[in-house]
Amino acid sequence: MKRILLSMLLAAMLMPVVAQQRITGESQENYEKRMEWFGDAKFGVFIHWGIYAVRGVSESWSFFNNYLPYDEYMKQTEGFTASKYNAKEWVDLIEQSGARYTVITSKHHDGFALWDTKAGNISAKKSSAAKRDVLTPFVKEVQKRKDLRLGIYYSLLDWSRDDYPNATRTSTRYNIKEDPKRWAEFCKFNFAQLRELNETYKPALYWFDGDWEQSAEDWNSKGIIDLLRSTNPNVIVNSRIQGYGDYDTPEQGIPVVRPESKYWELCYTMNDSWGYQHTDKDFKTPHMLLRTLCDCMSNGGNLLLDIGPKADGTIPQEEVDILKEFGRWIGKHKEAVYGTRAGLPAEHFPDGYTTLNKGGDIVYLYIPNKVRGKICLRGIVNKVNRVWVVGNGSMLSYKVYDKPYWSSLPGIVYIDVPEDVQDEQITVIAVLLDGPAKLYRGHGQVITSN
Ligand code: GLC
Repeated sequence: MKRILLSMLLAAMLMPVVAQQRITGESQENYEKRMEWFGDAKFGVFIHWGIYAVRGVSESWSFFNNYLPYDEYMKQTEGFTASKYNAKEWVDLIEQSGARYTVITSKHHDGFALWDTKAGNISAKKSSAAKRDVLTPFVKEVQKRKDLRLGIYYSLLDWSRDDYPNATRTSTRYNIKEDPKRWAEFCKFNFAQLRELNETYKPALYWFDGDWEQSAEDWNSKGIIDLLRSTNPNVIVNSRIQGYGDYDTPEQGIPVVRPESKYWELCYTMNDSWGYQHTDKDFKTPHMLLRTLCDCMSNGGNLLLDIGPKADGTIPQEEVDILKEFGRWIGKHKEAVYGTRAGLPAEHFPDGYTTLNKGGDIVYLYIPNKVRGKICLRGIVNKVNRVWVVGNGSMLSYKVYDKPYWSSLPGIVYIDVPEDVQDEQITVIAVLLDGPAKLYRGHGQVITSN
């Protein structure tokens, strides 16, 4: 008995309580308060929009990796017209998709700023065919919407700047330690751009990138955070700022084992590219992508799903279709998306993914495949009070099997899932327990008396 209690305690400890290791003097309470909306949001839309869409080459990396010369890469500014760009249409679609936040590339590693920056010379307004600030209309639209928050992606590194040390994979301009003055110039520029963004747009979140090229000390990560918080105290910052961020950002691959940090977000492409690349038709299906969302949620994370608009400002049809299907599915299953928490360890529900509601007494089951008859939920010590289909309302019948009277094993809850209640993508079932979920984590038992 003692052992069972111990394993139940262990199970409770398995629930994600480990906070992300952050370098800041902030109290845990304040941190949790700041992170609340993010933890509840679950789904966001990432936007990579820049001159790289003109030829359909990889964003910034194509010149850095010497796939094409820098000058040719930058010539794409001439084709960046934004002629059909309609910020309202973008934001309508994003809102419709069920996303609760959206993150846009204000400036990628190539240094091309979407807004009319006073700090640098390369921008949509000053150096592209669009001849205007294309960020502000988007920000304004986002900030009109009640349930949508603004995230700004900003590349700390800038491979276009003469005062930035790295130019391409094979060429550097100088060494910071040998020319600290030149580096100080760059930092001044970086801080000036960040001040502009922060004061003009007051985003809810910053999504930094490119931090790997320099240390926290050289970037002055602490100074950046202090600057942002000085006028935007509740802002959330991703991890890519050398230890000073609020949440982790695994990229492309879904974590196999539950991440240790309580807050994390998978950034993920629909095909294989962040920006628009006309040759990349390798789109994942809505089913695969929704499955990824469920996988993230089941481990307590968010999904930040990327779109890459074309240079004229239109969003590729494949991406529109995917976002609409997200909208349908999330809209139907709202209660099992927003505000959910990491679910049970995977072995409790071999037929799919799980999450818990905030109270811990509803287990949501996400079933990605067609069910042949019954699904089973294992190792739940609680009594099950009710089972229903989310977004459909039908009550389902269930029965506990494999509960020998002499064993402390809680038995297996078999739930009938008739064909006509199943969703065309992923069926969601709610299991209401008689209290916060208690798990059996033992190894079974041998009979000692009968
Ligand atoms: C990377 C890449 C970049 C992309 C980003 C999105 O770090 O440098 O091209 O924008 O990840 O997660």
